[in-house]
Amino acid sequence: MRIAIANDHAGHDLKVALAARAQALGHTVVDLGPAEAGPVDYPIYAHRVARQVATGAVDRGVLVCGTGIGMSIAANRHRGVRAALCHDAFTAEAARRHNDANVLCLGGRTTAVAVALQILDIFLATDFEGGRHERRVQRIETEEEP
Ligand code: RB5
Repeated sequence: MRIAIANDHAGHDLKVALAARAQALGHTVVDLGPAEAGPVDYPIYAHRVARQVATGAVDRGVLVCGTGIGMSIAANRHRGVRAALCHDAFTAEAARRHNDANVLCLGGRTTAVAVALQILDIFLATDFEGGRHERRVQRIETEEEP
């Protein structure tokens, strides 16, 4: 898969580890920055990755800030983007199976590197379950009462 990845200053080190892992798994990694490790505003990078996912330029996105919260809030402003903040194997698997999440958000200050790598592996390897979840995922975009 093609995977866009980005971070803010609190997510830099974890982003580097995640990018290396995704590459080692055979994926094409598109690193959208920042180029330097200094302080940056996370929404800029969340929007960069989300735009790539929303337009179909990449298959998945990965975003890392201090908690993963700001990145997920910003990325989810984009139609068609389902950004999931994951903390463990269970949430990573559910994000894919139930929510068809296409952007993984992680916290560089909240999640250990080994756990984050496990989360990434699951996020990239797990298929969407479909069925009843298909209808629910579609309703995320419509906002209409049934
Ligand atoms: C940066 O200090 C921090 O606010 C940011 O990385 C992120 O955790 C925001 O959600």
